[in-house]
Amino acid sequence: MSESLQQPGTVYLKDYQPPAYEIEKTYLDVEIFRGETFVKAELDLVRAGTTAVAELALAGEQLELLDIAVDGVPLDPSQYRVEEGGLVLLNPEARFQLQTRVRICPEQNSSLEGLYRSRTIYCTQCEAEGFRKITYYLDRPDVMSDFTTRISADKTECPVLLSNGNLLDSGELEGGRHFALWHDPHKKPCYLFALVAGNLSAVEDTFTTASGRAVELKIYVEAKDLDKCDHAMTSLKNAMRWDEEVYGREYDLDIFMIVAVDDFNMGAMENKGLNIFNTSCVLAKRETTTDAGFQRVEGVVAHEYFHNWSGNRVTCRDWFQLSLKEGFTVYRDAEFSADMGSPTVKRVEDVAILRTHQFAEDAGPMAHPIRPASYMEISNFYTLTVYEKGCEVVRMLANLLGPALFRKGTDLYFERHDGQAVTTEDFVQALADVSGRDFSLFQNWYNQAGTPELSVSDSYDENTREYTLSISQYTPPTPECSDKQPFHIPIAMGLLGDAGELALKLKDETPEDLPADNTHRVLELTQAEQQFVFTDLPEKPVPSLLRGFSAPVKLNYQYSRDDLVKLALHDSDGFNRYEASQKLALAVIEDALKAYHCGDLQDFSPDTRLLQVYRELLQESGLDQAMLGYMLTLPSEGYIAEQQQVVDPLAIHAARRFLAAFVADNLQAELLQRAQSFDPSLDYRPVAADIAARLIRNTALDYLMINPNQEVLDICLKQLEQANNMTDELAALTALVNCDASGVKILAERQLEAFYQKWQHEPLVINSWLALQARNASPGGLARVQALLNHPAYDGTNPNKIRSVIGVFSNANPVNFHGGTDQDPAAGYRFLADQIIALDKKNPQIAARLMTPLTRWRRFDATRGQAMRDELSRIKSAPGLSPDCNEIATKSL
Ligand code: TRP
Ligand code: ZN
Repeated sequence: MSESLQQPGTVYLKDYQPPAYEIEKTYLDVEIFRGETFVKAELDLVRAGTTAVAELALAGEQLELLDIAVDGVPLDPSQYRVEEGGLVLLNPEARFQLQTRVRICPEQNSSLEGLYRSRTIYCTQCEAEGFRKITYYLDRPDVMSDFTTRISADKTECPVLLSNGNLLDSGELEGGRHFALWHDPHKKPCYLFALVAGNLSAVEDTFTTASGRAVELKIYVEAKDLDKCDHAMTSLKNAMRWDEEVYGREYDLDIFMIVAVDDFNMGAMENKGLNIFNTSCVLAKRETTTDAGFQRVEGVVAHEYFHNWSGNRVTCRDWFQLSLKEGFTVYRDAEFSADMGSPTVKRVEDVAILRTHQFAEDAGPMAHPIRPASYMEISNFYTLTVYEKGCEVVRMLANLLGPALFRKGTDLYFERHDGQAVTTEDFVQALADVSGRDFSLFQNWYNQAGTPELSVSDSYDENTREYTLSISQYTPPTPECSDKQPFHIPIAMGLLGDAGELALKLKDETPEDLPADNTHRVLELTQAEQQFVFTDLPEKPVPSLLRGFSAPVKLNYQYSRDDLVKLALHDSDGFNRYEASQKLALAVIEDALKAYHCGDLQDFSPDTRLLQVYRELLQESGLDQAMLGYMLTLPSEGYIAEQQQVVDPLAIHAARRFLAAFVADNLQAELLQRAQSFDPSLDYRPVAADIAARLIRNTALDYLMINPNQEVLDICLKQLEQANNMTDELAALTALVNCDASGVKILAERQLEAFYQKWQHEPLVINSWLALQARNASPGGLARVQALLNHPAYDGTNPNKIRSVIGVFSNANPVNFHGGTDQDPAAGYRFLADQIIALDKKNPQIAARLMTPLTRWRRFDATRGQAMRDELSRIKSAPGLSPDCNEIATKSL
């Protein structure tokens, strides 16, 4: 047996082999100097098997090897090789200590992986395979080690020195330097290692666990941001309590730390005891942060905290199992956020993202199962599929078991696998063991990509009073598999009669089977085609299917528009009310699209049933105001595009905008009443009811600002000037900037500039300022975006800035991205490809993520599709292209 270095190319799940060696103890000594850092590592290696190995390879990248010894004896060059990608030890003993010393340059590390410098702060990002940029190591999640870390640095530049676990020792050194010694008592894979050094200030608190232990909580930020940590701290304590109450999980160290840095490839990272966050996911205060921002902080703080059990105590055997920790943890944070706010609203928001973006991924060239069978670059698999669809799969399991059994199952999972690196099968097995359920068919959710499509038809027999639902499933081919096995699909449902919900009785149910709430059932579809017969029904019902979006599928049932009106107004399931309103709006938009293609959109008169629904909703007392806001919002251009055979972004934009103007015109009085309710003397609180009130008011303002009269314009400007919070301030500015009415443009320009002057010292606010301009659908978008790249506020090395401008433009401004310029319809694509090629040299992970919109070329007409392909080809042939971008280009061409 020999352990060799990973070659560039494809890695397969079926090739998994347990590690040849374990690393019992890891001792790191990290000496930070200006411009260079020295890492000394002492690894206690122990052979796992009984037979000797000829070679042992340790991964290492961008390391300069200075010294190497085994058990204190320097190695002779004949005893090892340094290769591209790592270090190979020849004929290693069964047990030995490897001592290496390497030089690395965090200041030069622009990939934001490994040890790097974000502004003045040294920090690490090791997931998935970044630890190999710090030292030679068995960089794989099933190698779990006991870590001790000594950090030393200049005391004035880096007064704070942090790593995982508990502080054992610290003190002064010569030359103005100091050190800190940390030990983490929990064995962990190296991807959970973290180190931070810099001039940071902390907000402190304590949390007493259910069993009475005191835990020190610290949030480290730059001093200027100390006033923006309260919300993250509150969220952290809420999450800690929630995990005890809902999952019985306590925290397991004496200290829990969060560090915020500006330059970060993702949202945050769950390193044991030392989470590192993108500032955008920690900092929040009313003046600078929108409601969505507050909710994001709450959700991400909880997500990373929850990883302490779902990810750290029980970790992944290999990176194919990523959804084991991510799908489960997203499910946990989603349920937490639902409990902290409104469950239906949270569900609606999450499903909108899933159906717009994950469904598109699942239908595109990068489609993969939540547990992929192969990958080239693992960083490309931190996807909506692994995270959000992975969450949906856990949600289905939780709903199939019900809360009590699911809790029993997760208890068993945590207990059985504590301290282990396991697979998704281990997770499902624990749930099967406590419930006696057979989840063998359910496993297809882990192994097959693609979004199942359900076709539902029904019939009612007046004589037998039987109602039959016939449901079939079909999943289109995806790159990894063209012939899909059926999925196990839970379909939560009810039936609406004229006077409300009908009592349900399936044909084979006995009276004892009937649940307490007899208006609701979960049908389990396990075959390609199945029938469900309900008896004793007095009338032909309107079916309410897939309540709460009980499975990540597409549902086709021929609802009449009158059915949709009924469901939108009367369904007892909040999600399906929303869904019906969206389906109705989509139908009307599709009418408008037809008119657009016939060239007479201007004379098109929309189905007024949509107005009827909106009017009634606006008058309904007791309706959650956030739900009202979402129900009154037309489906996004992205979601509409998802529903089309061939996507015509210009037509979609025109049709949607036409309908929005129609709604604004016809509901002017009702909308005005909402928009007028702006009151700057109201105190700001980021709680569900207040968030909802702002959401509906700003939705109304948005509508009215399509074609504003002076009164509306005055409301908008007043709100922009007097708002005591960023939600209202930004909503007003956005409405103003998106207004195409003549005369408003110059005003908008002036207000944009004033906003910049006011907020230029707050990077996170400036991100929103950049994003709202990048999203602006008015003509000339590409030129505006190019100008933004030259604005002093832009920083082409900061992922948040890149996402705010390039990411938002190419994903959320379809009419400009796909419209290009008058001279060159493909200019948007060319622009994006140029940016990707340039960025790839600095930060391949972010460059690869930016490629997503180009990979969707098959969804467009032949000319656009070809233009997009051409740019993908150009990226693919760029000299020195990263494996990250190469994988996406290769798979999508
Ligand atoms: N594990 C992190 C999370 O979901 C994800 C993450 C953070 C990550 N930084 C990364 C993944 C860098 C890949 C690369 O909470
Ligand atoms: Zn995560």
